[in-house]
Amino acid sequence: MKSVASAPGKIILFGEHFVVYGVKAILCSIDKRIIATSQCIDEKIIKIKSSLGESSMKLDALEGLDSISPKFMKPFFYIIQKTMKERNESTGIEVVLESQIPAGVGLGSSSAACVAVAASVNGLFGKLTREEVLKIAIEAERTIFEQNSGADASISVFGGLASYDRSTGFHNILSKNNLNFIISNSGQTHNTEEVVQQVKNFKEKNESLFFNLCKQEEEIIRNATVALEKNNINELGLLMSKNHELLKKIGVSTEKIDLMINEAKLTSYGAKITGAGGGGCTISLVDDHNRKKTLNNLQKISDCFITRIDHSGLRYEQ
Ligand code: PMV
Repeated sequence: MKSVASAPGKIILFGEHFVVYGVKAILCSIDKRIIATSQCIDEKIIKIKSSLGESSMKLDALEGLDSISPKFMKPFFYIIQKTMKERNESTGIEVVLESQIPAGVGLGSSSAACVAVAASVNGLFGKLTREEVLKIAIEAERTIFEQNSGADASISVFGGLASYDRSTGFHNILSKNNLNFIISNSGQTHNTEEVVQQVKNFKEKNESLFFNLCKQEEEIIRNATVALEKNNINELGLLMSKNHELLKKIGVSTEKIDLMINEAKLTSYGAKITGAGGGGCTISLVDDHNRKKTLNNLQKISDCFITRIDHSGLRYEQ
């Protein structure tokens, strides 16, 4: 028997980095997914296969999770070991991951993979609720990135458009419109932890400037919440571009990203980095009027695709 589950990636519309220091962020899940297929196997091993690599460990391995290579697989082994222990199971397991989400560029592929693996592996023995999947996915992600806020995994499980802050968590926003974005990939992969550390260094050297930028970000997010309520796409785009200026000031943009943003701003409603920056992706807000033109222009300088908000979140496919 096979158990198949899928989970979406995400983009951050507003608030990345500032969210680490208590400011709200607004994010949504996208129509690109990771699909995890699990099955029990006779061999007494845990095996994980993905297009980025393959890894396996014996069920009774003594070395533990720290010896897992490549490192991005560690959370998946954590999920499987924990599931087997809690369910008192001792079968071998194989998980195959298929991804529509480019990896390492701020589109939430690692969180989506944890969510899909947790749902699919547990589905072999008895399905978990969304809340249970979320809990184990966040725990798993924290085995490699301790400060992880849990925002990516939350949006991947529940889908839609939401705000998130560290003290009150995740709140779904009922958006009346189906926003369309162009995601452009700079091709420069980034390490979120490193970029977050770089921003921390910047903050420590520039306390009052950073405090002021947090205040500006809070105002952008207040206005963006109103623009979303009123379905005001022009205002939303302007606020995204304004948000990008703040991200530039904290040093997370690059020459290539700025080139992509300037190009996008010529025809879209607005554009910004999405995620940690230091490379990664940009998002440009578009609709039927400017989608084709913006896509054509951005395609000349980056890999890009159109995306819209995914409203289904985690799905049990089989
Ligand atoms: O993993 P990314 O690239 O989507 O960035 C995460 C967003 C940050 O605000 C930079 C970090 C965080 O934990 O919120």
